[in-house]
Amino acid sequence: MQTCWEAAWLAYRSPADANRISIFCSAEEDAVLARAKEELALAAGELPEGTRIRLELAESLEREAYRFHITAPEIRIAGGSTTGLLYGVFGLLRRMRMGASADGCYEEAPKNPLRMLNHWDNIDGSIERGYSGRSFFFSDGQVLSGERIKTYARLCASVGINGVVLNNVNVRQRATDLITEEYLPRVREIADVLASYGIKTFLSVNFAAPMELGGLPLADPLDERVEAYWRRQVGIVYREIPEFGGFLVKADSEGRPGPFTYGRTHADGANLLARCLQPYGGLVIWRCFVYNCTQDWRDTKTDRARAGYDHFAPLDGQFLPNVILQIKNGPMDFQVREPVSPLFGGMTRTNQMLEVQAAQEYTGQQRHVCYLIPMWKEILSFRTYVTKKDDTVADIVAGRTFGQKNCGMCAVANTGDDPNWTGHDLAAANWYGFGRLAWDTELSAEEIAAEWIGQTFGTEPQLRKAIGGILLGSWRAYENYTSPLGIGWMVNPSHHYGPNVEGYEYDRWGTYHRATRTAIGVERSSRGTGYAAQYREPNASMYEHPETTPEELLLFFHRIPYDYRLKDGRTLLQYIYDTHFEGVEQVKRMLAAWDSCRELLDEKRFARVRARLEEQLESAVEWRDRINTYFYRMTEQPDAQGRVIY
Ligand code: GCU
Repeated sequence: MQTCWEAAWLAYRSPADANRISIFCSAEEDAVLARAKEELALAAGELPEGTRIRLELAESLEREAYRFHITAPEIRIAGGSTTGLLYGVFGLLRRMRMGASADGCYEEAPKNPLRMLNHWDNIDGSIERGYSGRSFFFSDGQVLSGERIKTYARLCASVGINGVVLNNVNVRQRATDLITEEYLPRVREIADVLASYGIKTFLSVNFAAPMELGGLPLADPLDERVEAYWRRQVGIVYREIPEFGGFLVKADSEGRPGPFTYGRTHADGANLLARCLQPYGGLVIWRCFVYNCTQDWRDTKTDRARAGYDHFAPLDGQFLPNVILQIKNGPMDFQVREPVSPLFGGMTRTNQMLEVQAAQEYTGQQRHVCYLIPMWKEILSFRTYVTKKDDTVADIVAGRTFGQKNCGMCAVANTGDDPNWTGHDLAAANWYGFGRLAWDTELSAEEIAAEWIGQTFGTEPQLRKAIGGILLGSWRAYENYTSPLGIGWMVNPSHHYGPNVEGYEYDRWGTYHRATRTAIGVERSSRGTGYAAQYREPNASMYEHPETTPEELLLFFHRIPYDYRLKDGRTLLQYIYDTHFEGVEQVKRMLAAWDSCRELLDEKRFARVRARLEEQLESAVEWRDRINTYFYRMTEQPDAQGRVIY
């Protein structure tokens, strides 16, 4: 494991000098309050000399909420709990470091109850879809501890993250054993550090643990022996970690075991674990990523996009109150552009959590810049029409629509043991941004970018302009030079980096574009697989017809001939050519923008990012040429602007 690392956006520029400030505290000391004071001492150099800080609890505030009054040189921070106080300290420091030191009163409460990161870390130290080195939780079958985990917890708490799943949803190798006495004392060490920053620890579990660990012949959720096994095991977990959050489960998904083996439903499976966790206040977070991953490409009837809804919508209302369904943002798998999963708004009596992927599996693997906050904003603001008002995805997962308490947002983490945490320095904006957005879904992508840039690189206007420009244009640029208009995939199989137009075309994963010399796409209207009808009206009708389908999703919903005219008059084919040329130009502009900051950045970071931008440019050119050439060869229609296509 790397021993040195940076403090990312919490690298305070002025040396810590706790004597510059004085802290008065009326709240009773606990581990979290100790962290709040420790942070103030670390950041004292960022506060005006002679600042007096008063920390107090306020019953009128929600548990995680805070309020601060600045009447220089005095600052009063009130929290609904010591966790609220910790958030208040981080909120104050953020404001101060962004240069807003004016007197005033600021109050905040998180919009989402749960704000979680899912690590796909394996117990051998590798990370599934990890692009920033190895795990800082596990190595060679051992659970790690140490300062790095503390810095990680600080960074998470500073943006309001309050739950962390330590291990991969694919619970393989000995990871099943994490819930046993052999590992729990070490897991507890991590859990204690996280808890001191207001973060609950969760573990992914293997649905077949009763067989793999318990020696039972089956894992049938309705079998008494199976339930007895889980009861016992959950008891062991809570004896060791009383503050434990609960389990995350990937069942009947991509080869993982689950209730289907026994003819049981996902409600049977989730409720079994929920009953066992309920006495301790634990949660079951059950993933909806369930589809047939052994499809025959010749089968044009089965549509993977339909699978999540078809499996889970009929179970609405059957899950116990401590079960949360965790739903990926789109119906496929974290592509650069997908419609919102119809499960949001498709269920009204089930706790739901939105899952996004900060790890850039399909968005450049942290070798390309791809700032994902604008994408997540679009998802959150999508209207489901499940109710007349408060019907957006943000409303549903915050609990505003149906009054639920167990709900929120989670992201597949993009961190590893690289010194800068995220491989690409600019990828840290997605970690920071996820936390901030989950805390306050009203923040704009621009505000979040500005905050992150200000705290990471500095508040000079040139940095904000140039780096902000790079970040904010990056998702669209990536979309432009990769697969067009929501069609997705076109990546190399298995590792998913780089272009391969037919990489998944004859495979078993249900991700086909079915391009011929005249048309491309899968028809998902009533004339095709019927997927569009999984949405509520008026969305279903909107997606039913190519003319009313938002153009960026045209090829997700429809099979379209290349000579189809888009709204601006261009043909589909010409649009594909144009966006691919444009995407490469955008990356060139990103490089120039980065270069314009050279004088304002430290050499090491400047060079690190520059090297990745160069690689991004090379890769974008490869994408452009492969995609354009593929369609040129299919159609034999040249570019209307006469540019070179090979
Ligand atoms: C994707 C990813 C897998 C992962 C899966 C999941 O398919 O490629 O590595 O396990 O998502 O979310 O479970």
